Amino acid sequence: DKAGHKHFMAKEIAEQPVVVAEAIRSYLPTGGDRVVLPDTDLDFTKLDRLTMVACGTAFYACLTAKYWFEQLAKMPVEVDIASEFRYREPPISDRTAALFVSQSGETADTLAALRYCEGKADKIVSVINVPESSIARESDIALPIHAGVEIGVASTKAFTCQLSVLLMLALKAAADRGTLTDEELADHTAALRGLPTVLNAALDQDRAIRKSAQRLSEARDVLFLGRGLMYPLAMEGALKLKEISYIHAEGYASGELKHGPIALIDKHMPVVVMAPRDAVFDKTVSNMQEVMARKGKVILVSDDDGIAEAEDGVWSTIRMPHVHTSLAPILYSVPAQLLAYHTAVAKGTDVDQPRNLAKSVTVE
Ligand code: F6R
Repeated sequence: DKAGHKHFMAKEIAEQPVVVAEAIRSYLPTGGDRVVLPDTDLDFTKLDRLTMVACGTAFYACLTAKYWFEQLAKMPVEVDIASEFRYREPPISDRTAALFVSQSGETADTLAALRYCEGKADKIVSVINVPESSIARESDIALPIHAGVEIGVASTKAFTCQLSVLLMLALKAAADRGTLTDEELADHTAALRGLPTVLNAALDQDRAIRKSAQRLSEARDVLFLGRGLMYPLAMEGALKLKEISYIHAEGYASGELKHGPIALIDKHMPVVVMAPRDAVFDKTVSNMQEVMARKGKVILVSDDDGIAEAEDGVWSTIRMPHVHTSLAPILYSVPAQLLAYHTAVAKGTDVDQPRNLAKSVTVE
């Protein structure tokens, strides 16, 4: 049932304020500022590092979580693609928790990577959407993301729920390890509780996003740029676009632009810049200006302050509400998803069943 939407993907994008609220409610009991896990057996003070493994969109959720764990909990994190990890056979110390992120819980490479860590890591933790799945069953601790059934092949609501749960896990690690003050923890939890409201405000930008998507649908290649927490999201935005619109897209760290991809920039190249007005905003804007100096067409996704400061010369803007810096990748997922969605609709592709793709990749 598409609940009045043209595609399951549109329905699942629209559901995000509700499912993310559910994910937050289940780990952040009302009244308190402390994250509570369904299984209390995960003590971050006993761990030296985290190794996170996943595929595709779930891998980008892990890359985002690396920034959170390192910044908030001062915990070193390694992130790898499951198909690389399993054959590289990296050494795993017994003070490592191995964390696997998978919507379906059945991805063959991720499951094999999990089995490789059995008996080596201190704990096997998974962040999954399907509690009965193989990955959930074979973990010491399985953390559900509460996204509900996801039907669209391109993952949307599972991604934002994965991010929400991973951020809460990083906050739990920060609380255990005493790396954030009570005030900072309270700041984060208040922002998390406000997340559904800002997600709704992001969804309200649908019409502006559709306009930008109309323009993107004419492109052969699209570049996505982001810095810091926005870098993994740039790659996720590019993945979404290529999956469903079949337009070639790449996500890059803004700072990498001059190390190669700037050679691609000309008047035919749209560049989506994901840049809330945060501590690295000025750096990203200077990269964006390098794009415009070469006639690249910039779509700037930012907040009021960012747009006021940097909109000169851009092709179009997508306006996001203000949000706590840590939460920006969750919020900015919405324009990334809607850009891909409307571009695909403009091109007339099969949004829910893109060619050559399967929802669950149970063979390697
Ligand atoms: C992209 C997408 C895929 C999956 C990947 C992992 O939109 O859906 O990249 O994220 O195949 O799947 P799960 O999370 O089920 O392990």
